[in-house]
Order: sequence, then C-alpha cells, then structure tokens
Amino acid sequence: MSLYIKTREVAAMETLRIVGGRELRGSIATPGAKNSCLKLLAMSIMASGKCVISNVPRVTDVETMCQLLEALGARVSFTGRTEVTVDPTTIASAAPPDPLVRKMRASVQVLGPLLARFGEVKMPYPGGCAIGSRPIDLHLRGLSAMGAQVSEEHGYIMVRASRLVGTDIHLDFPSVGATENLMAAACLASGTTIIRNAAREPEIVDEQNFLTRLGADIRGAGTDTIKIVGVSELGSTNYSVMPDRIQAGTYMIAAAATRGDVTITGVVPEHLDALAAKLAETGVAVIYTEDCVRVAMGDRPGPIAVKSMPYPGFPTDLQAPIAAYLTVSRGTSTITENIFSNRFRYVDELARMGAHIGVDGRTAIIRGVNELTGARVVAPDLRAGAALIIAGLMARGETTLDGMEHVYRGYDDIQGKLAACGAEVEIVTDSASAAVAEQ
Ligand code: EPZ
Repeated sequence: MSLYIKTREVAAMETLRIVGGRELRGSIATPGAKNSCLKLLAMSIMASGKCVISNVPRVTDVETMCQLLEALGARVSFTGRTEVTVDPTTIASAAPPDPLVRKMRASVQVLGPLLARFGEVKMPYPGGCAIGSRPIDLHLRGLSAMGAQVSEEHGYIMVRASRLVGTDIHLDFPSVGATENLMAAACLASGTTIIRNAAREPEIVDEQNFLTRLGADIRGAGTDTIKIVGVSELGSTNYSVMPDRIQAGTYMIAAAATRGDVTITGVVPEHLDALAAKLAETGVAVIYTEDCVRVAMGDRPGPIAVKSMPYPGFPTDLQAPIAAYLTVSRGTSTITENIFSNRFRYVDELARMGAHIGVDGRTAIIRGVNELTGARVVAPDLRAGAALIIAGLMARGETTLDGMEHVYRGYDDIQGKLAACGAEVEIVTDSASAAVAEQ
C-alpha cells in the first residue's frame, strides 16, 4: 500500500491550470514537515523495534524514502492518511539501490544510521533538486573524524567503521544534512561527540526529540553546539512530525500575493518569524494567535531586500516564493541567495509572465511591475514550482504549470488547499500518456 497515490511518472503528465486574480480567503491546515519526516524515517534504521511516525506529509519524497527503507529490507506500512510504521529489524542490506538514491538528496541521510548499525555502507552520490552544487564533504569529514574509513570506488562512496568513536567536530558551514547525519551516527558511537557550528534548524530539534524518545542521549539541538553521548542500543517509539514551516510559509506568501486573508493553522509561530518580519515590511498584516497565523494584505507590496541565511535567518526554501510575490512590488526589491549556488532558475519562467528580474551573481534584482500575465511555464525544481504557482495566482488570465512532479515532492495537496480558499486551480492530466505510465 502506498502513502501517495500517484507515481512520479503520472505526476509528470499533469499540468496545473490556474486562473489568476482570485483573492485567497479561508484557512489552511499545515501538514507535517517533509524535511524532518525524511530524516526521522532514515533514523528509524537504528531502532531496535518498530517506529510509528504520524503527521507524515503525503509527498513523493516521503514515499521515495519509504521505498528506500523497503529496498534495504525494512517492513514499512501505512495506516490511514498520515501514519507510517517502520520495522527496521528486518533490514539486511547497507547498500541502498542506485535509482532510489539518485532520486533525492535526502537519501544521503541513511548514511549515518546505516553506518552506525552495520559498520559499513556503500552508496552512490545522492540526486535531488538542481539548485547548485551539493557536495557531501562535511558529512564524510565528520564521519571520518569519528574514525570511519571513507573511500570512493567507481562512483560509489564506501564508508567503514566497526564502531564509530565520539569526538569533537567543527563544521565549516552549519549544514543541515551533515548535522543530522553526524548527530544520528553519534547516537550509537562509543563516547561523546560534540558538533560545533551545527545547523540550528527546527527540524534538528524535532530529530533530537525523536532520537531521545528512542533512548539516545542528545542535548543542544537548536543551538550551534550539540552534544551526543553514545549508547549501545536504541529502542522503539511513536512520534508525531513537527509542522512544515516551509509549506506554511508558502501559503502565507500566497495569501499576501493574492491580496487575500488566510489563517494558517497548526504552525509554530517562532519558526515563521523571519518570513513574518519580511512580509510585515511589505505592508502585510501578520497576526498570531496560539498556533495559527493570519495573513491579510490589501495592496501591492512595498519593495524589500531579502537575504537567505541559515536558521533563524530567512529560509532559502522560501526565497523563490517571496521573489514571485515581489515581482509586483511598488519599487525595486533585491533577493540574495546565500545558501545554494544556483537557486534562481525560476527567473526565466517568471519573465514569461511579465516579471522584470535581473540576476547578478548571488543577487536577483526585481523591478516591480503593475501586474503579471498568465503564461505556460515549467517548474524547474520544487520551491521554484511553488513560486510559479504563486505567480499564477496573482497573474491576470490563465497560467499552465508543467513540472508538477517537482511540486509533489514537497507539497501535500497544494491544489486542494488553494481551491478551498477560493483559487481557480485544476489539475489537467494528459490521460493517454498517464495510462501508458501507469502500466
Ligand atoms: C536541507 O538540505 C533541505 N533538504 C533543503 O530543502 C534546504 O534548502 C537546506 O537544508 C537548507 O535549509 C532537506 O532537508 C531534505 P545543507 P541540505 O547541507 O541538508 C553546502 C527543499 O526544497 N554543503 O544545509 O542538503 C551545500 O552545497 C530542500 O525542501 C557543503 O558544501 O542543505 C549548500 O550550499 C532543498 N558540503 C549548503 O552547504 C556538505 O557536505 C547548505 O546545505 C553539505 C552541504
């Protein structure tokens, strides 16, 4: 049984048709966070019993991770819409298969857990969104500092360590993935590991909470120094994934962009502070009540400067969505991308809709226009896809978006949620091709 109902091939046959100009009004519930859930699934490899993970988002990357765990020998089952049970006790292989690893970047997150459990891992370099060079040197250097032997053979990474040894690791950059891999691996190492200049993203706190429930001894997630005292075994647990701050943030921007009034429920307000501050600077009313955030806007945005930074800075994953919103600002806005080297691939697509954006190195300069006009566009990656949907919602006339398979990697029923708030959106399927793909 599958969590997600479409194969990626079928998703690739789909186009989102958007008739722009409708204000979004209503409320949207926040699903569980893809970027935490993927890691919790990977970390469940180290458990000695079943892990029942709830509030799982229905996105294709989660499905890919479940397939990867199954390919290793785990038993993975789905209950209801959002609960996954992983029984890792049947895992027999520490060599994840190429096609699944190449499908997404997050597959590298099985490296630390597999090494901790089996003492040896062989895997190819991971794939993922084309948003710039994405090396894994920090993951490998950290494991090597913990005593692992790392080598490359015929395009495969080979990592071996009968048991990792705790040590002091200083990351050159607060990499989210490296922090997560090393934190996981250190749980079953002998002695104490300290990760300095660690990433401080909320997902890392969620993972610390999950690992702690499994019996790990970790402190400091959410700060730049994480201390892990190795234990000999982890147990089993039930755990609910944290809310997805990037999906919530995307809907906040969509609400502002359509000059609507939307309440996003089930959020952790402090996770959205950087975005809320930037939206407020453009003139948006952002009102928090407990775990809800209401976003209301009645005008074109004022121009602003946005710089993506590691958490608690402005998230790189919302850089493209906010750029789409700023295409109609009353002046010139700038966006500086400090995390990834090539995350402006949406610019040419927005230009087809009438946006005026120039890119100079890491900075995009957006000269606001009165309005966008609908066009046929293609999502080059996940968050760029979200940006183009926002642009389509704002634009005059009809937009058709291809490349929906990227969007489904990280958004849980985006068209249904937008339609419920008044957007005119529909999925159009090339049914002849889809039928072939299903076979
Ligand atoms: C995670 O990617 C997220 N992915 C990304 O979300 C997110 O954009 C990113 O963190 C930053 O917040 C998942 O959680 C699955 P990094 P990750 O390691 O872990 C360089 C989305 O749209 N680097 O913090 O890969 C790297 O090249 C995705 O949901 C090294 O140089 O991010 C990049 O420039 C996209 N060597 C920077 O650090 C390394 O060994 C940040 O990467 C590792 C990273």
